Amino acid sequence: MAILKAVRGTRDLLPPETVLWNHVEATARAVFGRYGFGEIRTPIFEDTSLFARGVGEETDIVSKEMYTWEDRARADSDSAQSLTLRPENTAGVVRAYIEHKLADTGMLQKLFYIGPQFRRERPQRGRYRQFWQIGAEVLGPAWSGADSALRDAEVLEMLSTFLTELGVKGWKLEVNSVGSSTDRPRYVAALRDALAPVRARMTADNQRRAETNPLRVLDSKAPEDQEIIDGLPKIADFLDDASRDHFAQVLAALDACGVAYTVNPRLVRGLDYYTRTTFEFTVPDGSGLGTQNALLGGGRYDGLSEMLGGPKAPGIGFAIGEDRLILTLQAQANAATEPKLDAFVAPMGLAQNAAALVLAKELRAAGLAVEVGDGSFRLKKSFEAADKLARRMVIVGEDETSSGILTVKDFSAGEQTKVPRAELADFLRR
Ligand code: HAM
Repeated sequence: MAILKAVRGTRDLLPPETVLWNHVEATARAVFGRYGFGEIRTPIFEDTSLFARGVGEETDIVSKEMYTWEDRARADSDSAQSLTLRPENTAGVVRAYIEHKLADTGMLQKLFYIGPQFRRERPQRGRYRQFWQIGAEVLGPAWSGADSALRDAEVLEMLSTFLTELGVKGWKLEVNSVGSSTDRPRYVAALRDALAPVRARMTADNQRRAETNPLRVLDSKAPEDQEIIDGLPKIADFLDDASRDHFAQVLAALDACGVAYTVNPRLVRGLDYYTRTTFEFTVPDGSGLGTQNALLGGGRYDGLSEMLGGPKAPGIGFAIGEDRLILTLQAQANAATEPKLDAFVAPMGLAQNAAALVLAKELRAAGLAVEVGDGSFRLKKSFEAADKLARRMVIVGEDETSSGILTVKDFSAGEQTKVPRAELADFLRR
């Protein structure tokens, strides 16, 4: 019989690697908490039109990469509906903001999420069909200050703190402004004009992009097309005064906080909802990501709530590719070394199994991380297992049980100590 495997582009995360995943997520929760973010969990599938309207019909994500199906009607109250596994979480968060009337609280909303997203992309290192994002969104009515440049800088400074706290080395922040919802169409029109006479000389992929979504041409890495792309109009020349001023304020606040950045005029990002500030954090070659060097991306989306039928609610947010962050930490080998258990309790013979289990129970109740062996193991085998798993081994034999004095073997120090049972937990904690 053929052996079943995880579907292409998906993968299992196993211990001990999951220790690192939990460490990254715990750090995100701790850091984001200090900036006043609370957790939101939205459904993994949504009505397809949420992404069509929010992310944009013409984007690669919506036009090519979504897992979409017709959900059959099951009962009178159900009607057939097109559903989609979420390819990203911003649209879902804004839908929830509208649905739960969070605007009525009058407060700025600061929400973060950690969860899987789904895109049917060509799988490669750092690019999966099910991948994890750690993201956050800040949004609210305009008078809550949600559109302030201070928010953009605060989010970027938080990301810089998060990456530094995790020990990620060599990250770079690129920023740009894609202007207001009126600047963008003017710029796209200018791009189309500039592309028309040169299009035929470009690679097939860019010829198609020039036709369907000219902004995507700017993302192209095709070496043959770089000269043409460098000569195209720059979005910076199409910003209205308010957007130009907003961007200047973001940069000034980053300077004040000491967050280093470069302005990349070609950074337009692949989702349609962006207005004004856009950004990406990348890591240097050799950080384990190959060509997928974007660790995270985000930006401002001042019109998204209205695009989804909600009230005006400017916002800004980001999503970190958690898989990529883990690969980077592993490649840079600055991840905390895999923590070992405090003790391995080894019964000497089957008759000591119950006594060993009781001792393990006592030590666990005292807050220690403990594994218990089985008396049928030969001593050598117990030693090997214990050395892999734990810092110390506690031997439970007939003598130990009757005398209440236990033998503790310390693997790193290579010594053996006799410890009274009442002092064992304290001893193991040291
Ligand atoms: P995005 O740039 O599409 O933005 O994705 C953000 C990050 O998710 C990327 O920088 C990358 O690290 C990771 N990522 C994307 N696709 C994959 C994949 N197939 N495999 C592994 N990692 C991947 C968004 O999703 C926006 N919702 C971000 C945002 C939040 N903008 C405003 N608020």
